[in-house]
Amino acid sequence: MGLLLVPGCHAADDGLPFAEAIGTPLEEVPGVVAGSGSVTADHSVVDYRYPRLGGSHPLTMEIRTTMAERQTAFLEDLPERGTPELSQDTTILAMSEEVVGARLTSVTRSGLRETHTATTLWYAAEGERVLPWTALFRDEAALEQAHLHLADVLTEGYHLPVEQLPGLIGEVFARAGAEADAVAEPAEGGALADPAATPVPDAAPTPEEPTVPGEGEPLDLADPEQAWTAAEEWAGSPLEDLAFSTSGGLVARMDPDDVPGAGGGEVLLPVEAEDAEELLSGLGFQARDAALAGNDDVPPLGEGLTAQGSELNCQRLKCVALTFDDGPGEHTEELLDMLQEYDATATFYVLGSLAEEFPEVLERTAAEGHEIGNHSWKHDDLSGMSEAGVAKDLERTNRAVEEVIGSEPLTLRPPYGALNGTVRRSADMPIILWDVDTLDWQSRDTAMISEHALTHSVPGSVVLFHDIHQTSVDAIPAVLEGLHRQGFHFVSVTDLFHGELEPGDVYTDAQPT
Ligand code: NI
Repeated sequence: MGLLLVPGCHAADDGLPFAEAIGTPLEEVPGVVAGSGSVTADHSVVDYRYPRLGGSHPLTMEIRTTMAERQTAFLEDLPERGTPELSQDTTILAMSEEVVGARLTSVTRSGLRETHTATTLWYAAEGERVLPWTALFRDEAALEQAHLHLADVLTEGYHLPVEQLPGLIGEVFARAGAEADAVAEPAEGGALADPAATPVPDAAPTPEEPTVPGEGEPLDLADPEQAWTAAEEWAGSPLEDLAFSTSGGLVARMDPDDVPGAGGGEVLLPVEAEDAEELLSGLGFQARDAALAGNDDVPPLGEGLTAQGSELNCQRLKCVALTFDDGPGEHTEELLDMLQEYDATATFYVLGSLAEEFPEVLERTAAEGHEIGNHSWKHDDLSGMSEAGVAKDLERTNRAVEEVIGSEPLTLRPPYGALNGTVRRSADMPIILWDVDTLDWQSRDTAMISEHALTHSVPGSVVLFHDIHQTSVDAIPAVLEGLHRQGFHFVSVTDLFHGELEPGDVYTDAQPT
């Protein structure tokens, strides 16, 4: 093994450039509650874990939604045979009052094949935004420079021939070399000698070169939209999976297959602290300082916040809201077990009179994260009542529910879907009907009920069932299994409509228009 030329790199036992990445498994971060889910089906296994930083925290929402998108893509692409697995997890890279960095990992196992991917997301308290890795850099020239530093580590530390520099590192290196050529006309053979000595290229596009990130108008990485655009343009960069090192520099993780001679283990390429100084943005420095400080002194972010609130952005996902009317009743708990198995959230339109009769069932329903709606006191046709009569019926039901679960129903479904102006005026809550009616109360035919739900549900559907019938509850495993396999996520009514519901307005579905 030759002498290491990368300044400041420690010679580890194998003599390769060395860096220790900072990152804390979710369960070891004080004050952070982990949310998780898992579904083991005949055809697949999926699980995920994410930080619950409080009700509808932007970072929680982004991580959870990103994981849900990956899950859908995985399930939509399942092979005919086998039981592939998708496992998603989160590591905290930095946490302070100013910034939170999270590394999202996903492992896919299919037969003997195992695929790992990872990305990072950064929450900036200033502006309350979730930003991509590019926001940690000062500008696009700094992004280029970071790739040149990695090229250095690979050529000098790993002795990789420059022609073998992988992906974007190779592209940026070649371009920097070509521009140096154009400027300096160096002596024969000297063009690629020392990339670190190459001036950072200005973003001046040369028409005959292939399009690579960093060309054209430089993006302003301090602008959130442009930082995201940059992340798209620089997709595939080893810096997508970036962390800070214990020595204050940056660490990029690379696919061992791209680095011959790496020995097959995890490949962590260091950008030394003094080099990183030149590259980081204000957010980058905040993130570095937070990473180096560790998590011990961080006030728990979740303090004072409930773990409730929307976590999935259904505008980006295949979501469906399963709704169950006329309970709670003697079959409801069996249904709750089924929903739990499929990581499914549902909405229950309950009768106030039955909430009084089955308080434990209602309590468990709410405790397991399902949403409770108002379905009147005892299933009277509200459209036949006076304004005062409707108001009194709904109010009595709200009180009965609140008595048991501590909060009022969020939405109303009038019995029989019977509506008129009086009901709309008296209901001080959004009115939710449905677009998929399984007619379960009529057919009492389990196969027909599940078949109807499976063939009619589309993203944004509200599906109507009644959990007071055994035949309906018996239909649910097939519904959950079938829609899960298609990549659907089972969400509450208010999540389906992403919280944009107005009192007195009537909704049937949230299909994109
Ligand atoms: Ni009903």
